[in-house]
Amino acid sequence: MKSSLFSPFSMRGLTIDNRIMLSPLCQYSSVDGCMNDWQMTHLGMYAMSGASFVCFEMTDVEPAGRITYGCSGLWNDEQEAALARVLAHCRKYGQAKYALQIAHAGRRASKKAPFEGSKPMSVAQGGWQAVAPSAIPEGDGSDAPHALTIPEIKSLVEKFAAATKRAARVGFDAIELHGAHGYLLHQFLSPLSNQRTDEYGGSLANRMRFPLEVFAAMRAVWPADKPLGVRISCTEWMPGGWDIDEAVVLSHELKKLGCDWIDASSGAGFKQAKIPYAPGYQVPFAERIKKEVGIATIAVGLITEFDHAEKIVASGQADIIALGRGLMWNPRWGWHAAKALGETLDIPPQYLRVRPGA
Ligand SMILES: Cc1cc2nc3c(=O)[nH]c(=O)nc-3n(C[C@H](O)[C@H](O)[C@H](O)COP(=O)(O)O)c2cc1C
Repeated sequence: MKSSLFSPFSMRGLTIDNRIMLSPLCQYSSVDGCMNDWQMTHLGMYAMSGASFVCFEMTDVEPAGRITYGCSGLWNDEQEAALARVLAHCRKYGQAKYALQIAHAGRRASKKAPFEGSKPMSVAQGGWQAVAPSAIPEGDGSDAPHALTIPEIKSLVEKFAAATKRAARVGFDAIELHGAHGYLLHQFLSPLSNQRTDEYGGSLANRMRFPLEVFAAMRAVWPADKPLGVRISCTEWMPGGWDIDEAVVLSHELKKLGCDWIDASSGAGFKQAKIPYAPGYQVPFAERIKKEVGIATIAVGLITEFDHAEKIVASGQADIIALGRGLMWNPRWGWHAAKALGETLDIPPQYLRVRPGA
């Protein structure tokens, strides 16, 4: 019987050979926002990993939108050229299709990298002023962010569109807009981090306004034959916080604007959130959005077993499986999944002799 995980999937003019995606993974290793030889090595490895959809890490639309000084950016020509170099390398040796995740960290900006302790950096410590819908700090010792004015919000929408135009020039196959994990778009959606009293805060329609304006501006400049999806946190796991019912409404609105997929993540905005971590704990969000909204979904989070991934796609809970840590730990996960599920993958010819049974 044919494996569902290894069946092709199409969105607009893009067809991916199987349903395995490398989840976007910040590397905190860029210099002045420019990717370099580290991403050549890191992403080059996943380009030939059997994952047919490789998402480049969170890449920010302005300097203040970076989590750390090592985050990738796309607001100038040098960054555009650096991305083009990594993408050309992946295309030369890999078998995958490539998405770029476009983002802004909002109030979660100005920190040390995780491998340097993740500590917030104040302006006096060499960091920078973070921005957010409201001047409410993250609660991890970060300084209060600057509450964006309406002209600043409009200018940020333009910055997302400008980065999208650059991504189109670089030649990515798809874009994923990052609306999850407590970063800027999520901060606007959340009634906990967004306490504005103007048209960008309060009601659900107002809280969705900025993310929807960003999406529409990006869709308008991204090629019509290329898909544009959104990663959202389907709940922030906080009493009184953003939840799956609101996420379903947002997904309907995004679909109306031409969104091609919802990457159904959750949480990450609040350290005190109680999250029921378990294999596939976010899959029910992907399933509900897929069924109620009629949009393609990506399931992500603690999916590590081949049979589990196969079952999620075969049972129609989600269309694509994104793996983060599972693929980082075992970059040949896709090869091993294909073997376990009785499929034969295209792999680089230099490696053909090592395939079991070859
Ligand atoms: C090192 C690391 C970096 C990450 N960077 C990003 C990122 O750039 N964008 C994003 O949306 N999620 C990011 N995540 C979250 C992953 O994409 C993924 O959603 C999460 O790890 C859960 O999937 P997993 O259980 O398969 O790892 C990161 C996770 C890790 C471990």
